[in-house]
Amino acid sequence: MASQPPSMIRHFARVAPQYRRVRELDVRMVYRVAEILRDLAQGDRPLALVDVGAGTGRYMEAVIGVLAARMALLPLAVAYDATPQMLGVRAAAPSLASRPLTGVTGLAEHLPFTAQSFDALLTFNAVHHFDLGAFLTEAARVLRPSGKMLLYTRTPEQNRTTIWGRFFPQFAERETRLYSEATLQDALDRCSAFGMVEFVPTLWTLRTSLSRLLEQARGISYSTFLFYRRREFEAALRTFEKRVRAHFRNTSAIIVRNDHLLVVATRR
Ligand SMILES: C[S@@+](CC[C@H](N)C(=O)[O-])C[C@H]1O[C@@H](n2cnc3c(N)ncnc32)[C@H](O)[C@@H]1O
Repeated sequence: MASQPPSMIRHFARVAPQYRRVRELDVRMVYRVAEILRDLAQGDRPLALVDVGAGTGRYMEAVIGVLAARMALLPLAVAYDATPQMLGVRAAAPSLASRPLTGVTGLAEHLPFTAQSFDALLTFNAVHHFDLGAFLTEAARVLRPSGKMLLYTRTPEQNRTTIWGRFFPQFAERETRLYSEATLQDALDRCSAFGMVEFVPTLWTLRTSLSRLLEQARGISYSTFLFYRRREFEAALRTFEKRVRAHFRNTSAIIVRNDHLLVVATRR
């Protein structure tokens, strides 16, 4: 059964301290997800949520922040991840550690939770690291009937349209792990535990700058950058900078699109 390759574990352990700084957060998606979760609430029981591949837990924290303002009861939430250093960022920052989110370490393909424990299972920017079939089987097992699985990811096609896909040499070609919509649909069909499945393409535009983009690449904001040798990476980064300068008149105010896909699947 697949798990994280050791090179990826080392990568996420190394980038953990800077991860929040080098990645952007899709705030509109946070509100969208919070809305879907709020509709799952029933009676006076708090929602039970798990974020698989949660990293530092930044998405789950933001979702809880929105829910806290809209619901009487705070959810009981777990941030679950294979890399202890990613989860450790929370423990190391007192302002984060005080928020109601429990960190648990482990693999997406073997969830250490009893059957039907959660109202919703979320995963942001992580499903392409998982063995899809094994993960879906586990997701279905730990969800209650009518519970939701929310997968936020980008497809290979969407990856090609990002600023990295367009201007960073070979970025889209070397990133072969992302799942297409058809592959996700096929895996969900095989799993057969999910009834209704919606695929919602989401457009996320954001304002950035060339200096921010260079900082992000140097901070290895995407594990795709690991697929370059050091010299190759430096050469590709120079080409990226040249291309961006040639394309955008004002490099301190660049509007980029960052399309993603939200898959909403309901447990039978
Ligand atoms: C790109 S990061 C995304 C983190 C977080 N969801 C976010 O958007 O900030 C991917 C995360 O998936 C975790 N991961 C990779 N493979 C995993 C697996 N098989 N099981 C559990 N977590 C895994 C990594 O440790 C990493 O924290």
